Amino acid sequence: MNVIRFSDLVAQGAVRGRRVLIRADLNVPQDEAGHITEDTRIRASLPCIEMALKAGAAVMVTSHLGRPTEGEFKPEDTLAPVAERLAQMLGRPVPLRSDWVDGVTVSPGELVLLENCRVNKGEKKNAEDLSRKMAALCDIFVHDAFGTAHRAEASTYGVAQYAPVACAGPLLAAEMDAISKALAQPKRPLVAIVAGSKVSTKLTILQSLAKNVDGLIVGGGIANTFMQAAGLPIGKSLAEPDLLQEARAVMSAMKARGAEVPIPEDVVVAKAFKADAPATIKASSDVAEDDMILDIGPKTADKLAQQLMKAGTIVWNGPVGVFEFDAFAHGTQTIAKAIAASPAFSIAGGGDTLAAIAKYGIEKDVGYISTGGGAFLEVLEGKTLPAFDILSRRAAGQ
Ligand code: 3PG
Repeated sequence: MNVIRFSDLVAQGAVRGRRVLIRADLNVPQDEAGHITEDTRIRASLPCIEMALKAGAAVMVTSHLGRPTEGEFKPEDTLAPVAERLAQMLGRPVPLRSDWVDGVTVSPGELVLLENCRVNKGEKKNAEDLSRKMAALCDIFVHDAFGTAHRAEASTYGVAQYAPVACAGPLLAAEMDAISKALAQPKRPLVAIVAGSKVSTKLTILQSLAKNVDGLIVGGGIANTFMQAAGLPIGKSLAEPDLLQEARAVMSAMKARGAEVPIPEDVVVAKAFKADAPATIKASSDVAEDDMILDIGPKTADKLAQQLMKAGTIVWNGPVGVFEFDAFAHGTQTIAKAIAASPAFSIAGGGDTLAAIAKYGIEKDVGYISTGGGAFLEVLEGKTLPAFDILSRRAAGQ
């Protein structure tokens, strides 16, 4: 995709002394007291900020945090904990500015964080007046918020329409490059793991991957629906019986291409959804009416691990079992370790997947870890995200 890259502007010396507005995605999880519990997105945003500072720009950074009500700033909406964490990471103060839409004082070499942009009225609806005001704050707008690249809001889309220059930051560019590499010209076999509780939320991804991948491993509630579609008993497991036809269509589309959706041959079941519920391994055909499937079984896990070892490219979204409960974590752990050990280029994304990667300590062994949740899924679906739409229009002079 043809977009202007911020790194190229820096290399051309076009950033020195300029006012640069960076839209980052600093939407990090917090506990009830407001402490940040996971800071991947802040760390991933540092290269862009450091690049702008080093280039001698006057740097403004903004982000949303949560889903606040526009025009009603509440204490829990503040980016103050993010400012503090950023300051620690950068080793310099990061002043936080409120009410910034009508003007921000910042000099070259300085950095300010602009308070939660989703509190501004008109943000969600991509209001033109708000977008124009944000655009007027800067000479160069840098979109580096891959996690929010699927939203067309004033701070992600409108501002890019009206800013004098609009470009992609290094994180946004790297995410797109990595996902394109994985999907456009992948080293084969290309194996995707799509797991999660519901087929309905991932149906379009399953349908579009079914046209491209060589193996489509399903897990969690999604696998239960596929097992049911294949005529297997699933007891009282989470599933969507009204989507059996769609699941069968995905399996037939894969089969017609000589590819497959491996159906688990064994599973781990329990009588209740509880961490301490006794776990039993069963053949898939033996699941009882009062069983809940909470993980894939060891034979299935080993078989899938072998498939992953032979893959050229792996795309991973979603744990295959309830890995938060140790008794039902073996399947996800086996998959994670196989991805880590496989020579394949691997790319992973989504909140639960990142949690599994952290739990099994395989961060360094995954080819690329995306900071996107919904954005990652939409790219897998084959959609052009609004961020890339507007940045490529601007690069084309529109
Ligand atoms: C995310 O957490 O996926 C992004 O920050 C986007 O947040 P949103 O779903 O509230 O737009």
